Amino acid sequence: MTEAVQTQSQQEGKFAPRVFSGIQPSGDLHLGNYLGAIKRFVDMQNSGIETIYCMVDLHAITVWQDPAKLRRATRELCAGFIASGLDPQKSILFNQSQAPEHAQLGWIFNCVARMGWMNRMTQFKDKAGKNREKVSVGLFSYPTLMAADILIYHSTHVPVGEDQKQHLELTRDIAAKFNHDYGVNFFPITEPVIEGAATRVMSLRDGSKKMSKSDPSDASRLNMTDDADTIAKKIRKAKTDPDGLPSEIAGLEDRPEARNLVNIYAALADQSVEQVLADVGGQQFGAFKPMLAELAVAKLSPISGEMSRLMQDEGEIDRILADGAMRARAIAAPILAKTYDIVGMVGAGS
Ligand code: TYM
Repeated sequence: MTEAVQTQSQQEGKFAPRVFSGIQPSGDLHLGNYLGAIKRFVDMQNSGIETIYCMVDLHAITVWQDPAKLRRATRELCAGFIASGLDPQKSILFNQSQAPEHAQLGWIFNCVARMGWMNRMTQFKDKAGKNREKVSVGLFSYPTLMAADILIYHSTHVPVGEDQKQHLELTRDIAAKFNHDYGVNFFPITEPVIEGAATRVMSLRDGSKKMSKSDPSDASRLNMTDDADTIAKKIRKAKTDPDGLPSEIAGLEDRPEARNLVNIYAALADQSVEQVLADVGGQQFGAFKPMLAELAVAKLSPISGEMSRLMQDEGEIDRILADGAMRARAIAAPILAKTYDIVGMVGAGS
């Protein structure tokens, strides 16, 4: 069990530790998704905690998705999860639309969350930009569905990258307001788990921008499906500054591109940034970049190879997702029924 999980479960008492996280099947997986999320999903799975990981297809359609591409991206994401080390026997792997309890609880949370809270969501502002009047209503209410994803399992811990922090704070606010309004202690106050050297992997072209699937420049990111030559080329061309590498972290201050490459190295090598700098301090980027490229290829190539192998058998992927959805619903259905009862919906359980 990771340290963060241990401390929290001791505090909570009432809720057994349970990990949930999700990724949108809305395009190629990139290094930010891998280091900021999937690799840490695997660590949590292997530390013996109950883990539930979801391909959030309902979130993906908050912006237009071509149906055939969405189907492919969902299966590819599942293949990426498994190729990275998630075991469908140990973790529950499924796609969100197949557990309708998420959307049902999402509606209840639409009635708990306040407009003022939602209006503060920076990711909506960034994504909508000047197009505010034309984007879908779903893009605006996206975070209430995310809160439902987490709380429908009474999840206590959510591993994510730094960009999801505000959504997780909203999830805590929704849980607290529900508990307060109905006079219950029903939903846990979930703990975000944002840790490690790569909680915010930056663009290879601009150290002030997050690595993202929506960046128009493919050279800005390493995709999980890039071949060895492409990875090496993108790293060779990655933006840096003229100085060499420092031996201590303080020497990375105000050097976003240098810091990003060192963080990536540390996360891929499972080392601390201090350890990496102790080894490479004093080197020029001309020497460090090939080392980084070699490490990235060594870590990512086996994953992309395994992903293509798994994608040969879509039937097997669909069976894994269906089994995951069944197991997810077995946890979610009683929690939804109890929620309806607390809210005052008349039904079989009331
Ligand atoms: P999404 O699909 O944008 O990203 C999936 C995960 O990858 C992380 N991530 C990064 N980490 C480090 N550096 C980066 N450059 C980087 N880019 C992406 C994200 O932080 C995330 O952990 N709203 C979520 C999906 C979601 C979810 C949930 C997550 C829906 N319901 C419930 C947790 C719990 C999203 O859009 O992630």
